[in-house]
Amino acid sequence: MTFPKEFLWGGATAANQYEGAYTEGYKGDCISDHLTSGSRDVKRIFTAEIDPNKSYPSHEAVDFYHHYKEDIALFAKMGMKAFRLSIAWSRIFPKGDEEKPNEEGLAFYDAVFDECAKYDIEPVVTLMHFDMPFHLYKEYGGFLNRRVIDFFVHYARTVFERYKDKVKYWITFNEINFACIPMGSLEILGLYDSRTIDYTEPYDVPQKRYQALHHVLLASAKAVKIGHEIDTNNRIGCMISHVTQYPLTPHPKDMLHVQQQDHQFNDFCADVQIRGTYPYYMVRFFEDNGIHIKWEEDDANILKEGCVDYYTFSYYMSNCQSVIKENETRTSGNLLDGISNPYLKTSDWGWQIDPIGLRYTLNKIYDRYNIPIMIVENGLGARDVVSEDGTIEDDYRIDYLKAHIQQMDEAIKDGVNLIGYTMWTPIDIISSSTGEMKKRYGLIYVDKKDDGTGTLRRIPKKSFYWYKKVIETNGEAL
Ligand code: BG6
Repeated sequence: MTFPKEFLWGGATAANQYEGAYTEGYKGDCISDHLTSGSRDVKRIFTAEIDPNKSYPSHEAVDFYHHYKEDIALFAKMGMKAFRLSIAWSRIFPKGDEEKPNEEGLAFYDAVFDECAKYDIEPVVTLMHFDMPFHLYKEYGGFLNRRVIDFFVHYARTVFERYKDKVKYWITFNEINFACIPMGSLEILGLYDSRTIDYTEPYDVPQKRYQALHHVLLASAKAVKIGHEIDTNNRIGCMISHVTQYPLTPHPKDMLHVQQQDHQFNDFCADVQIRGTYPYYMVRFFEDNGIHIKWEEDDANILKEGCVDYYTFSYYMSNCQSVIKENETRTSGNLLDGISNPYLKTSDWGWQIDPIGLRYTLNKIYDRYNIPIMIVENGLGARDVVSEDGTIEDDYRIDYLKAHIQQMDEAIKDGVNLIGYTMWTPIDIISSSTGEMKKRYGLIYVDKKDDGTGTLRRIPKKSFYWYKKVIETNGEAL
């Protein structure tokens, strides 16, 4: 095995799926607090008002807010060197547009980072993970409004200053490229058209969506610049949902189609965040789609001056695309679905498992950008069964993680500068797409059911002990 000595083995989470305590400590509500629970077959619903007759999984989640000491102690027991978490923007600025931050919110993350420091765990902190303060969506119309850039930057400055000596690794926006498809309008941009019935299939105005995304890219760049000014040691990254796609057939039209999809979904945002300019291929895309981005005088400079230091991404699955054989069996996946790949098996939730695709993807990314890479999400959502003796034998999760780590090893041997791996997730949390508890990714089981019952007790699964060994041997004992 070839993992560097200082390799950041860890686990990743997100505030809206993990913290709970959604109004405690003066926290304001955020967009994800308005999403009901669902399942593979029942869609989550976005409600403008909190309906007392519906269930909203983020409100309690698995209550990291009150269990952080216990959880971080367990992460330390596993030997985790890095813990990716997100700060809930609305815990720091409950409405988003205040001048003064909420001290109780700031103090909570102080306590969390101090707890990490106690065990030498490096926090990797995302500034926004699908949880814009609700007030900014409602009163300002989200990132379509340039004022929201300033609110975000004020928030970023506040936390960079406060946690200057506690956090080095930052990520601006989780899966920023989700905004390249209509479904990402709400969770990245805070856009919701009143004609929309189902937020996952919104009434989409690409002109507005790409204008708002332009503002998010500016907000990210401004934050990066400020983060570097506050502390030159800060390492600030982009975060891309990389959905790796293969042409279903060798037909040149399929090849070209995949290249275009790759550009528009996987590459566009990172190209801007890493190179500081819009890539050439977007000119034609905007022309063909009648999109005209309004740039203000300083925008080009802002993007240039706010380039990120490292590339982070989520990788769960891959799929196929085709314009030649459009009617083949389809498969679902993280954010993007596609055509089934006959060579791959799928998870219980229909996501195709493709470890070799991870090596391919790491090489693609490194070849394109030549900067350090961190995989900040990768894992298996599955149903777990607690056996009579109280153990959870999740060999399928071990198999999944093992196969992906083996391909990471190959990629490092290929020459890729991979600096860390925060698997999704060290502990069971709410699923983002379905709002379920039973779609579990964790190495630690949490006793909570979809109906909200359960003791919230934490129980290490078999994979917990396996990952502990992996970390202890720096990837040798798989
Ligand atoms: C990523 C998100 O898209 O996928 C996470 O950043 C999410 O928030 C993860 O939880 C897994 O998806 P899901 O829908 O199975 O929870």
